[in-house]
Amino acid sequence: MASLGILAVVVVLATGFGTATVFPRPSEDENDSDYWLKLGREEIEEALLKPKLTNVAKNVILFLGDGMGITVSTAGRIYKGQKHGHSGEEGNLVWDKFPSLGLLKTYDLDMQVPDSASTATAFLCGVKANYRTVGVNGRVRYCDCQASLIEENRLTSIIQWAQEAKKDTGFITTTQVTHATVAAAYAKSASRKWQCDKKMKKFGQSATACKDIARQLVEDVPGKHIKVVMGGGRQEMGAPKTDIMEDNCKRTDGMNLVRDWISHKEENDKSYAYVTTTRELRSVDTNNTEYILGLFDDIHLPYETDRDTSLDGCPHIKEMVEVAINRLKNSDNGFFLLAEGGKIDKGLHITSPKRALEELLAFEEAVELALKMVDMEETLVIVTADHSHVMTMNGYPPRGNDILGVVTESEEISDGLPFTTLTFANGHGFNYSFDGNKVVRPNLTGVDTTDKEYVSLAAMPTYYDSETHGGEDVAAFAVGPWAHLFHRVHEQTYIAHVMAYASCIGPYKDCHHHHAERPFNEYNILQKQVKEHPKRVSSSATGLLSGNIFIFMIAAKIFLF
Ligand SMILES: *[C@@H]1O[C@H](CO)[C@@H](O)[C@H](O)[C@H]1NC(C)=O
Ligand SMILES: *[C@@H]1O[C@H](CO)[C@@H](O)[C@H](O)[C@H]1NC(C)=O
Ligand SMILES: *[C@@H]1O[C@H](CO)[C@@H](O)[C@H](O)[C@H]1NC(C)=O
Ligand SMILES: *[C@@H]1O[C@H](CO)[C@@H](O)[C@H](O)[C@H]1NC(C)=O
Ligand SMILES: [Zn+2]
Repeated sequence: MASLGILAVVVVLATGFGTATVFPRPSEDENDSDYWLKLGREEIEEALLKPKLTNVAKNVILFLGDGMGITVSTAGRIYKGQKHGHSGEEGNLVWDKFPSLGLLKTYDLDMQVPDSASTATAFLCGVKANYRTVGVNGRVRYCDCQASLIEENRLTSIIQWAQEAKKDTGFITTTQVTHATVAAAYAKSASRKWQCDKKMKKFGQSATACKDIARQLVEDVPGKHIKVVMGGGRQEMGAPKTDIMEDNCKRTDGMNLVRDWISHKEENDKSYAYVTTTRELRSVDTNNTEYILGLFDDIHLPYETDRDTSLDGCPHIKEMVEVAINRLKNSDNGFFLLAEGGKIDKGLHITSPKRALEELLAFEEAVELALKMVDMEETLVIVTADHSHVMTMNGYPPRGNDILGVVTESEEISDGLPFTTLTFANGHGFNYSFDGNKVVRPNLTGVDTTDKEYVSLAAMPTYYDSETHGGEDVAAFAVGPWAHLFHRVHEQTYIAHVMAYASCIGPYKDCHHHHAERPFNEYNILQKQVKEHPKRVSSSATGLLSGNIFIFMIAAKIFLF
């Protein structure tokens, strides 16, 4: 009975040290060689049918999982499977099945391990930059306002290139709309911290010549022409706040930039909506509203684990993406959308694996929905991260072991204590003590490490919320026109170039004739290849081979979704 394996119950291993949940494998055939031989053959077929779309990408969507390094993505994949009751390692996140991927070098010009501002400058503007700078090149050092004002040091981004090509543009984030990642799409600033005027005054006269990031969003090109802006940051924008909270970036110039944004739309006779709750977001008529500004919190949006899911609360990231795409789809010339899962990073900084992985899965839902809403033959979708974190996946939990749980038996760990699969190389959970004899770590027996409040053990101490980024490569997963341009280890700046080349904008705005010169060349080669070796392809796939390009696309879609 095939169902027996699937129905196998979740096992709780009781040991001398405590308990660990072990989830069952979804397939009972994994012990059989045939299972793996069949899987391998299917993947070969898929690779042979890999789509290489060389038409112009009308739309581009960049999904940015802030801090979503490869370890984080692997843990998220396992967590996803375990939330469905099985082991998880064998499963897939939606981007795991994208046909193309590459690795990206994330270093800054002046740092081995980067931050989100310089990396966003790289993947949105196509030029590498210094640590904590936004939209400016390497001649601008952190906080050097004067250098950032020199025209040749200021960069243009994919958002501006798209606008120049008369495309509609938008961004959504779960952080402030002035936060590092999205700021690089519209602002030029020697410091990512200059989100409001108050933060600049600290730097005295030298900084006041520069404009804060929030004002750049509302007053300057390309910020003021962005059709969809959603996230948090009412405080930075000088809008009325709902909560009494620490005002770390409160405007001191008395400006209300939301009011200014509204005035600008009214003066130009543009339809607009300013929304602050899920209810208001849902009421936006996306077919008759040109500009949408959503500010759902004073600072960042809450973690998915802590979100007020009522209509008065703030929306799921999926819902922001849905409204953004519904609005941007109405553009005749196509669109560019940046969608950031910004709190994956925050959950990791506080070393709360549960919060981080819940953010990752919410982000994944948004990607999944977007793929259903757009025409994949004319939309390039990229999922990537700006940088990694120092979270690690320790050996050796048994297959299906709760990814947030503990390992109770180990031949390698010398103190005999249970340990969590996920720990951090640094963080505020540094927690060793001296028992009069030797240095010891906490005994996790009876501790619920799957709780969102559980703070992971860290090897080196940091301040609260300061676990650091990691420096290894991140992945870029792509599907749609020109996705195959991701093919090896690239500089992170390459992302901006692929997006611009695929859609013939910005530095590649004259590339239209390239497309005319090689219409579906790759398809012809691919088709020939497969036809010449029909025996290598199983009967189920040969049926597809007699058809045309579109059947290839359908096949690719089946593999993907
Ligand atoms: C697979 O083999 C292992 C021994 O390696 C065994 O414990 C397990 O029950 C087998 N699973 C199935 C579904 O046959
Ligand atoms: C917007 O217009 C499209 C096409 O005309 C239609 O399919 C869609 O339902 C409309 N959306 C809303 C929210 O009215
Ligand atoms: C350190 O471990 C002890 C248990 O040994 C626990 O009570 C405490 O909360 C931990 N502190 C931190 C910062 O993780
Ligand atoms: C950890 O705590 C449990 C429960 O208090 C105890 O039985 C066990 O001996 C402790 N382990 C060590 C190595 O101290
Ligand atoms: Zn970060």
